Amino acid sequence: MELPFPTRPYEAGLIVGAISAQGARVWIRAPGARPHELRVRGPACARALPVRCGPETDHTTVLDLLDLEPDTEHALDLVELSDDGGRSVLPPDLRARVRTLALHPDRLCFAFVSCHLPFVASGESIELAPSLATLDALVEVATARDARFVLHLGDQMYADPDRLPAVNAWRLARNAAGRGEPWDATALYRALYRGYFGVPSMRRLHARFGNLMMWDDGEIRDAWGSVPLPKEDGAIADAMFAGATRAYREWQHAHNPKTEGDDLHYAFDAGPASFFVLDLRSHRDAARRTLLGERQWRAFEQWIAATEGAPVRFVASSVPPLHTPDLLVERLTRQGTRSDVLPSAFHDRWSADAFHDELVRLLELLLPRGVVVLSGDIHIGAANEIVGRDDRRVHQWISSAITHQPSLVSRLESELVSRLADLASPLRVAARFHELANNFGLVELVRRGDRAWSVTFELWVVGPAGPRAIQRVEATAIDGIVGAGVA
Ligand SMILES: [Fe+2]
Repeated sequence: MELPFPTRPYEAGLIVGAISAQGARVWIRAPGARPHELRVRGPACARALPVRCGPETDHTTVLDLLDLEPDTEHALDLVELSDDGGRSVLPPDLRARVRTLALHPDRLCFAFVSCHLPFVASGESIELAPSLATLDALVEVATARDARFVLHLGDQMYADPDRLPAVNAWRLARNAAGRGEPWDATALYRALYRGYFGVPSMRRLHARFGNLMMWDDGEIRDAWGSVPLPKEDGAIADAMFAGATRAYREWQHAHNPKTEGDDLHYAFDAGPASFFVLDLRSHRDAARRTLLGERQWRAFEQWIAATEGAPVRFVASSVPPLHTPDLLVERLTRQGTRSDVLPSAFHDRWSADAFHDELVRLLELLLPRGVVVLSGDIHIGAANEIVGRDDRRVHQWISSAITHQPSLVSRLESELVSRLADLASPLRVAARFHELANNFGLVELVRRGDRAWSVTFELWVVGPAGPRAIQRVEATAIDGIVGAGVA
């Protein structure tokens, strides 16, 4: 199945996924009848690994590269074999590579992004959005700053964009079902990934840095799990969610660190930093008042206990835990309050009545420990601090959107709501900044002594003179607790 995207849909390609000091996961897509191999070349290594994949996984697979040299660059190539040797099937300017982490680095830099919608409507057709300049800037800045990996914190694609009806999977499925025609949810979601991941700027990012991903509602349907569906969508919802999940596993989750069973949440370490990436969509069900699900809570609490000695800890939550007027959102979303007059985004907050108990549980874990929260979702960049007892605080660093360009009114509304958070929340929410332009986040950790690391968040945008860090928050981690920031 093909959808009318402006760039050629994804055929063969690769994504560098989870990386460590000694290894890397590399995701590969290799359709076609001939065999392929992945060639890996480093200063002390030259390998060729056979690639095996078929239509049951949309021609995708992952290879684990083991026993690589730490802190070393290895060139990658994907080659289609033939009688005369073979030919590369990657675009010539891709320069795919794996850079392993250093074993005990005194510095670590990584980027984080969210909300990738690189298309705009142009009459009946679809064109590439000018906001792709921000994605190109990310590749440039991440290279210059020696960032080793990128966290993609949700909405790596949008399954039901209002403004692009020709690539709205829910509309297409609903219409086909209404006409009594056959339709295939998995094929629809796979076709979306081939469009969103096929954009050359994104392919360059995928090929040159580690890429760790977590889905949000974009990958399923707007506000999935938080609001009741209209009747005609309710009828197709189970099949759509199954298709979304399958395609997400194939295109995104497969190159994350290994997980158990159906789990999509994951934890990993990189240099001095430990990460837990929350899955806010698999188990979300406002009707059952569930957000993470008990199994994920147990895993998260175990990670908290197991990483108490880590120099710096980050939890990634696609939706920021507390950036709206908490009491107001909770009250407005209580059962019995008319849900149709409220924007669905309110119901999608951690503060919403259905999920509020879990917000309290999360903050009780994070506040005493100075864990930093990384988030996306809200289509503005922002930084704030949730201040608890004894001046303990949780930094929330938000980068959104990398390429999505919602209306200015909706971004202003997002900023206004976020600015009001301090007024109607039980905890102080101290805002550092809000930024409306497309952006990406860069985090840098530098050792400052035996027990101390500086932890810096920069928000980058593209201005008339090129990329620039428009905002910066500096904080210090002492014995693993990231404390007061200095703007
Ligand atoms: Fe988004």
